[in-house]
Amino acid sequence: MRQILERSPAYRIFLRLRSRSISNERLKSRLRRRGHNLDKALADGTDCRVALFELKLLISEYFRRNLKGTETTKWVWDLIYQAELGLVDSDDMRVLTENVVPLTEQNFKKAVMGRRSVRQWTAEPLNVDDIVRALDVARWAPSSCNRQAWKFLLVQKHQDKECLQMFTHQTFFKQAPVVVVPLVDMEDYHKEIKHYAYLDSGSIIQTLLLTLHVEGFGACWIGVKHDQQYDGNLDAFQSHFGLSKQWIPVSLIPVGRYELLPKAPPRKDVDDMILDQTD
Ligand SMILES: Cc1cc2nc3c(=O)[nH]c(=O)nc-3n(C[C@H](O)[C@H](O)[C@H](O)COP(=O)(O)O)c2cc1C
Repeated sequence: MRQILERSPAYRIFLRLRSRSISNERLKSRLRRRGHNLDKALADGTDCRVALFELKLLISEYFRRNLKGTETTKWVWDLIYQAELGLVDSDDMRVLTENVVPLTEQNFKKAVMGRRSVRQWTAEPLNVDDIVRALDVARWAPSSCNRQAWKFLLVQKHQDKECLQMFTHQTFFKQAPVVVVPLVDMEDYHKEIKHYAYLDSGSIIQTLLLTLHVEGFGACWIGVKHDQQYDGNLDAFQSHFGLSKQWIPVSLIPVGRYELLPKAPPRKDVDDMILDQTD
């Protein structure tokens, strides 16, 4: 057992945790990821001793640093109790049934198929709280190991929008009352899974776009270009918005109210998407 534990990533980071070379932000992310590992081990009925050990190290360090308890820490405690005592909270089952959404299939399809990229907005100012409410829904998007390594800039000032121009040749985004800039913490992804940073970002971006659409807002997903000036631009962007080096802008999402939705551009036939291997 001791050998297993010494090979455990959490055991190796234990010394780094104690020396505080791991930031509070990173510690929170690890709690979510290791919690996810334990959650899975409990569900699969596989050996959860290592995952449990790792999680206990992390949670004890969390409170040693006097960090405030959150929904995540409550969830972690519940998992630890469950693993230690073999107890399953009977409330769990109730949550599962309550989560069945009373949404008709028709409404769901309408929302998914009716969303459009909106590139023109009315002059109506936007309340930033509306975007915050949409993000409050979008944060339930899936992410790798539930790491949720995302943050969002809500850009409204003219000079701040001008600063974003370095990432795209498009200019229409500056007409929107708010430009949401999804950022991802690249340091939260080790070498083999760097690309998950973009997958996780895409996951929350699409959920945000759909949420905004059903709330009556129009938005457009604009990609950030990695051209020859990108590295210098990134430095300038991070210093303009006071961001540390790990935060990378993934896209620009101008949002506002619209008068007309554009017509839908055609989609590939579903038959053209499927590579049938059954024959
Ligand atoms: C990664 C990504 C980058 C995009 N970049 C741009 C862009 O630079 N400019 C733009 O007008 N639309 C951009 N779009 C929007 C697409 O053009 C649009 O989603 C597509 O044409 C389908 O139209 P619809 O969103 O109305 O269904 C981008 C979409 C994605 C997913």
